[in-house]
Amino acid sequence: DPAHGAALDLAGRRVVISAGGTREPLDPVRFLGNRSSGKQGVAIAEAARARGADVVLVAANLEIAEPAGCDIRHVSTALELRDAMQVAARDADVVVMAAAVADYRPAAVSQGKIKKDAGDGGLTLELVRNPDILAELGRAPHDGTLLVGFAAETEPDPERLLELARAKREAKRADLLVVNRVGWSEGFAADENRVSVIGDDGRVVTELHGSKVSVAQGILDVVASVLPAAER
Ligand code: CTP
Ligand code: CA
Repeated sequence: DPAHGAALDLAGRRVVISAGGTREPLDPVRFLGNRSSGKQGVAIAEAARARGADVVLVAANLEIAEPAGCDIRHVSTALELRDAMQVAARDADVVVMAAAVADYRPAAVSQGKIKKDAGDGGLTLELVRNPDILAELGRAPHDGTLLVGFAAETEPDPERLLELARAKREAKRADLLVVNRVGWSEGFAADENRVSVIGDDGRVVTELHGSKVSVAQGILDVVASVLPAAER
């Protein structure tokens, strides 16, 4: 697609992308999960590959086919995703956290199936916070690695949505933050997306809408434009 920069503008770049949604086990047969399909992250992985990058895809419970030509590392929980990202990020030029990470996991995983007659009619789950993987990557030394975060927000007001996203980008020290509004029907399994990309000065670098594939190309256009020139 000639609208999207030079064909091989990511040649030789190491791009690490997380996609999908984590699952936090409760017992051998149940988990806490979310509605992320992995479509947007996989579209970025495929597009980066097509533009010449070496792509590591850290895949959390994808509901769609895996892309060809990527080094795929399967994870399920947030803690597994964190380990895989820390390893992969070490020599990455770009890290994209597109995965929907569970903010909480059950405090204890039952080794046997939780029985419905164990309590007095109701069930209370105790949850503990998962680490913020993107914020950890942002705090760790990462010279030469561009950090791209996502933000999923249900805020209906566009200005307040941007304020939330700016605060999120700063808190996590991401270089770029891709914000999209999600809801009961928008965002997750859809083929279309509408996002704003916020830069490290808090300004909206670009607004993108269309198929998740074209949004992926637009995000990579921004990434390619802010990457330092490759050594020759
Ligand atoms: N993220 C992460 N680790 C977590 C939670 C989120 O790395 N434990 C990343 C996501 O992959 C995304 C970004 O942080 O790139 C924003 O995720 P989001 O859920 O929108 O923000 P949170 O910081 O979790 O805040 P909240 O859910 O309360 O809005
Ligand atoms: Ca969250």
